[in-house]
Amino acid sequence: MIVILTGGMGFIGSAVVRHLLASADATVVNIDKLTYAASPDSLGDWLKSPRHQHLALDICDAVAMRDAFARFKPARVMHLAAESHVDRSIDGPAEFIQTNVVGTQVLLEAAREYWQGLEGSAKAEFRFHHVSTDEVFGSLESVDDAPFDEHTRYDPRSPYSASKAASDHLVRAWQHTYGFPSFVSNTTNNYGPWQFPEKLIPLVTLNALEGRPLPVYGDGSNIRDWIHVQDHAEALVLALMRGVPGATYCIGPRQERTNLQVVQAICRTLDRLRPDAVGPRERLITYVKDRPGHDFRYAMDPSGAEAALGWKARYDFEAGLDQTIRWYLDNEAWWRPIRDKRYAGQRLGGVKA
Ligand SMILES: NC(=O)c1ccc[n+]([C@@H]2O[C@H](COP(=O)([O-])OP(=O)(O)OC[C@H]3O[C@@H](n4cnc5c(N)ncnc54)[C@H](O)[C@@H]3O)[C@@H](O)[C@H]2O)c1
Repeated sequence: MIVILTGGMGFIGSAVVRHLLASADATVVNIDKLTYAASPDSLGDWLKSPRHQHLALDICDAVAMRDAFARFKPARVMHLAAESHVDRSIDGPAEFIQTNVVGTQVLLEAAREYWQGLEGSAKAEFRFHHVSTDEVFGSLESVDDAPFDEHTRYDPRSPYSASKAASDHLVRAWQHTYGFPSFVSNTTNNYGPWQFPEKLIPLVTLNALEGRPLPVYGDGSNIRDWIHVQDHAEALVLALMRGVPGATYCIGPRQERTNLQVVQAICRTLDRLRPDAVGPRERLITYVKDRPGHDFRYAMDPSGAEAALGWKARYDFEAGLDQTIRWYLDNEAWWRPIRDKRYAGQRLGGVKA
């Protein structure tokens, strides 16, 4: 089976490529223009596999997308390419609209034109899987609110989540209007190996390792539902194979933690794995001015996706964190040049909304 996958050099995309190539008889055509967030090393030996082909193309390039479909004739598409960091979307929303909204529309049109030219079982079995976030649902206002599910109303509140919501709407519009066989999955905050060190868990881990301040937004009470990227990748591959046109899959691990609990757990794990002579690392926690419009709580009810896909997240948060932190400790050769040259751990997204 030939799969066109966009964003396969990014954090989640690369986990999907590794899992897909290891678990299925698939060939992956990986369309990724290699932004600052891309890490070809994350594919390891798969990078040079005859079952993996990288196309360094922009999904906004309509001619290139049309050519890729005509040339590779995929049976499935999984669309992950996006600008993905909320704080960057606050500093500069334009790129988020360009890639996440315009890029999705361009890809949908290229895929639809290709699909319309198919016949028989190739046409009937073609699927387009759009990967999205729980942030499109807005914010739960208390710990007692029911978690998000497939029926939750959209209420995006940051430039990032608004651009992802727009892309979800486009995918559903193409399905409804043209009968295009697409579906959407939404999931919660991912963490795990190879995550770019601007995101909370690697940022705090590496700052703690270097004895630098650990920035916590506001009072640290904001809640996220943390899924290990391997659990997410397994759910995505199942959805890619079994997904039903028009469906929504709300993927989640039932692992809610406050931001402060996450930072404290990182400190405890590092203290255990690499003790600091000065003392416990919780001393480094520094409360910083809250992110503008910071959503209070995201949480997902995954029962629908679990039943539909025959899947359940396996990692509890503390076990996944232990595995992740060990990976960062063992892979300084990857993150050190990024910290030194591309992103030094500075705060992003401080612009007042
Ligand atoms: N990280 C999370 O916690 C999370 C949670 C839910 C959903 N998602 C969604 O999952 C997807 C992947 O997220 P991620 O964290 O792996 O992102 P990432 O930022 O790590 O990777 C994105 C990849 O897309 C590529 N890309 C960006 N713009 C492109 C363009 N115009 N053309 C071609 N390639 C382009 C980049 O080079 C990069 O390799 C995104 O759609 C994101 O919205 C992420």
